[in-house]
Amino acid sequence: MNRIITSVLILALLFLAASACQKETASPPDNNSNNNNWVYNPTPYHLEVPAFFPVLDIPADNPMTVQGVQLGRMLFYDPILHKDGTHACASCHIQQFSFSSDPEVLPHINLGWSSAFLWNGKVEGSLEDIMLFEVKDFFVTDLGNLEAHPDYPRLFYEAFGEGGITHERAAKALAQFERTMASGNSKYDQVLRQEPGVFLTDEELNGYDLFFTEEGDCFHCHGGILFTDNEFHNNALDADPEAGQGAITGSPFDLGRFKTPTLRNIELTAPYMHDGRYATLEEVVDFYSEGLHTSPTADPLMKALPQGGKHFTAQEKSALIAFLKTLTDTSYIANPALSSPF
Ligand code: HEC
Ligand code: HEC
Repeated sequence: MNRIITSVLILALLFLAASACQKETASPPDNNSNNNNWVYNPTPYHLEVPAFFPVLDIPADNPMTVQGVQLGRMLFYDPILHKDGTHACASCHIQQFSFSSDPEVLPHINLGWSSAFLWNGKVEGSLEDIMLFEVKDFFVTDLGNLEAHPDYPRLFYEAFGEGGITHERAAKALAQFERTMASGNSKYDQVLRQEPGVFLTDEELNGYDLFFTEEGDCFHCHGGILFTDNEFHNNALDADPEAGQGAITGSPFDLGRFKTPTLRNIELTAPYMHDGRYATLEEVVDFYSEGLHTSPTADPLMKALPQGGKHFTAQEKSALIAFLKTLTDTSYIANPALSSPF
């Protein structure tokens, strides 16, 4: 009995050894498999979510790893991702300006909490979805360029294991890096956390009151800890609004509706609005004060306002702006982990 078991075991071992050998010799030498003693043993990445922020959804099939985040960071800063190699994501999304630049570039800040992207909401879903759009449709990434690179085949292997370089994996790495672009260290956050010695001035407090009450009424759309409802509204910029979200949904009710931008780091992201029409925060506040142009799809909040706006006093205007400037997080734009790795 024992002998039978032993011989079965030996046979099984021989068979395993044979098939292992076969596998080794059968796989052709290419950059997509591990012929170079590369190691796939990714280290989990622990993301610090700022205090009071909502839970961050991380898709089960793209857990954050040190290797994935680092790869995403490299891809973000490397023009190799673009089919012509002419520019990188970072050419337009510049850290110093909260990853925006002029005139229409949407900033990158706390996008992990967003589920509809671009001014008109063309891409809905996760960060992986918008990144796949950016890689495949916008940059039309030529995977051959990455495969021929001396480092990327290994870096993709270390981040994702067997399976080579794909658009999906490039998008996943970028999404992991984007999730690390979390910003919650403005003066306003420090006051919320009751950090010693940090207070709002009287003027900033007045601005806070205007912002978060019906008086200024900004909070209905730019409220919450993220300073955006992540919805689409027509904030009454034009009497004859552009298509906006209507271009995507085809619905006349969505004309002139655009993504509510976060007001975090708003001091850094001029010019303002989807077409960059306002150069300063003063101009923006003047617009909400007396420059509204109502239209059939204008938000009811805007329509309810008499004669083109809120009619703030000069003092109220500067208070609002002073408050908006408390939302600036300079540690975010100076964070070395978000800067170019090259
Ligand atoms: C030539 C300038 C330019 C480059 C390069 C560029 N972007 Fe953008 N990006 C923009 C502009 C402009 C918008 C807003 C466009 C719109 O909404 O239609 C935008 C919007 C976005 C958004 C949506 C943000 C939001 O709040 O909805 C994401 C995400 C994004 N870009 C990621 C990337 C990534 C990743 C890359 C590199 C693969 C990249 N971008 C390269 C100009 C650029
Ligand atoms: C009905 C919703 C709504 C209300 C209320 C509202 N906003 Fe906006 N806000 C938006 C939308 C939508 C945009 C983007 C519009 C566009 O670009 O076409 C915007 C854009 C902005 C911008 C420019 C952001 C950028 O990145 O370009 C600032 C600044 C701003 N709003 C401040 C305020 C202030 C201050 C108040 C209160 C006085 C306010 N908003 C009230 C919806 C609203």
